[in-house]
Amino acid sequence: ETAEQDLRQKLLRLMKEQDAILVSHYYVDEDLQDLAEESGGKVADSLEMARYAYEHEASTIIVAGVKFMAETSKILSPNKRVLLLDKEAECSLDIGCPIDEFSAFCDEHPDRTVVVYANTSAEVKARADWVVTSSIALEICTYLRDRGEKIIWGPDRFLGSYIQKETGADMIMWQGSCIVHEEFKAEALLEMKKQHPDAAVLVHPESPMSVVDLADVVGSTSKILNATRELPNKKFIVATEDGIFHKMKEYSPDKEFIAAPTAGSGATCKSCAQCPWMKMNDLQRLEHVLETGDNEISIEESVRTKAERSLKRMVDFAN
Ligand code: 13P
Ligand code: SF4
Repeated sequence: ETAEQDLRQKLLRLMKEQDAILVSHYYVDEDLQDLAEESGGKVADSLEMARYAYEHEASTIIVAGVKFMAETSKILSPNKRVLLLDKEAECSLDIGCPIDEFSAFCDEHPDRTVVVYANTSAEVKARADWVVTSSIALEICTYLRDRGEKIIWGPDRFLGSYIQKETGADMIMWQGSCIVHEEFKAEALLEMKKQHPDAAVLVHPESPMSVVDLADVVGSTSKILNATRELPNKKFIVATEDGIFHKMKEYSPDKEFIAAPTAGSGATCKSCAQCPWMKMNDLQRLEHVLETGDNEISIEESVRTKAERSLKRMVDFAN
């Protein structure tokens, strides 16, 4: 208890000395979420993380999340020092969309506008016309559809299918997926809904379509979180990474939150909806990074400027 308290004080002091803030994603451990807020940083979804870091005057941004989130901040804020807690903190969508193959796929369809999810490398963002996150993908694809543009979507096939279904846009898709969200199971969710008929079902759109179809609210982590505050329900079934429960309980201590069933639920773990890369983030790694300056993000300038153009389009669209 006190050792942890001492460590937290030390981390806050080091951040202050280095003019640094911690920006955390909702999926990281709760101690890092709390520390982010204490440091003057924020807990947020991937779009808000990037915007917050971009607009904040701190000269060092420390990202508790995964690599693409830190890279996004660096692309938008090249003059800031951006540090990631663990260099190995990846994302299956990013890993599954290597630049050479993706670029060749785009070259085969030169008439299409390339829209990529933020969960990609800086090189893939540089190849794209637009970068989007889950909180704004639908609006941007609707806008492109209305302009008569045909779309190449990458890399999440489930989010892509959801957008295609909602907008009717002409889209062809890269076949990537999130190893966490693809495990949610529709049949078991239907059973759970029957047992809790008063619960609202909240689903992140990286989940399979059959699961999305059962949702009362589909959206990014922040949209799902807002729904738990705004809907009158006292009970929620939640299909996203389980780090989100920390903020849900904090905002609504009187409400009940149930993890949606995954392939492994019940057998080996209660929810199983854990991102192994998000869970690499911890206080010890933050201490290491602050003491050594390790894991600083750098992006080659020619790649960065191209990626910045497609990212800024999203940020400007959101403003
Ligand atoms: P959000 O944009 O909703 O934060 O999602 C990012 C992510 O990695 C989801 O798994
Ligand atoms: Fe990537 Fe899925 Fe982990 Fe999010 S939860 S970082 S999409 S692997």
